[in-house]
Amino acid sequence: MEGVLDHLMRDLLTQVGGYDLCVTEFIRVVDQVISDRAFYRACPELKNARAYGCNTLSGTPVRVQLLGQHPQYMAENAAKVLELGSSGIDLNFGCPAKTVNRNRGGAVLLKDPESLYQIVKAVQEAVPNDVIVSAKIRLGYEDKSLAIENAQAIESAGANEITVHARTKTEGYKPPAHWHWIAKIKQNISIPVIANGDIFNEESAKTCRKISTCQDIMVGRGALMLPNLAQVIKQTATVMPWYEVQKLLLKYTACETYGDKSKYYPNRIKQWLKYLKLQYKEADVLFQEIRTLKTAEAIEEHLT
Ligand SMILES: Cc1cc2nc3c(=O)[nH]c(=O)nc-3n(C[C@H](O)[C@H](O)[C@H](O)COP(=O)(O)O)c2cc1C
Repeated sequence: MEGVLDHLMRDLLTQVGGYDLCVTEFIRVVDQVISDRAFYRACPELKNARAYGCNTLSGTPVRVQLLGQHPQYMAENAAKVLELGSSGIDLNFGCPAKTVNRNRGGAVLLKDPESLYQIVKAVQEAVPNDVIVSAKIRLGYEDKSLAIENAQAIESAGANEITVHARTKTEGYKPPAHWHWIAKIKQNISIPVIANGDIFNEESAKTCRKISTCQDIMVGRGALMLPNLAQVIKQTATVMPWYEVQKLLLKYTACETYGDKSKYYPNRIKQWLKYLKLQYKEADVLFQEIRTLKTAEAIEEHLT
């Protein structure tokens, strides 16, 4: 998740456990092959990938996500990031951001199944056969009329998996997620379908699985609200108590960060607290306390 789920967060959450796969924040492909440096920055797990596989520290595979509209550049970048060691390629056709859509990337491509087909096909042809190429879609741009056609285009172009966020771009993040549409899509394609949208606890996971008919699910915001969500869903844990969450917040301060830690860290930790406060009232109190603190040091001091 762009702006919130970086490699530090992937390490923390997969150390807590229960996750089978992580996807990176999207990497924007425009009209060139991205530098090694930029790929390593977005996905530091690639640095050790050739030797140990592209995994978080606790061994969960990490797949790089690309977002773009140009089949050739998407293909060249997919081939490159695989050489660097990514655990497959994920293609983002769901991003609702205006700047991204204006440049014909993300969800706007859901208006045009042929473009989806061309991008997936180019990527699929550029990578070895045993590499997983997955795609992430929404149900459509303004309406759901192309939901099935889009999924079929992605399948016929050779994708191996498809994750469906059960809303259109226009629906944004407004509840409800239309899980029954995932079932409709699943009925019409034969590659694995992963259900996504509004899975925040054990019960919503159960209901989503039932309605979508998908066993495989992806969680986004829920993982930030409740760090052990995957274990809660798998029924191997109860909700993590706040004092354990506090330990994670402290661990996040100790993580190596890229760039200027003093700017990056305060921003990210405040973003995380915005999600945590939906699950823990203590997070809201903490957020209010650190809201005006501008440096990493001041926030670290407050947490310790
Ligand atoms: C702040 C934010 C950033 C996101 N960034 C990405 C992204 O980079 N790639 C992606 O596929 N989805 C991204 N998403 C969408 C989520 O992955 C997910 O599909 C959506 O939030 C619905 O699932 P959820 O209810 O489990 O959060 C983002 C969502 C949010 C709220």
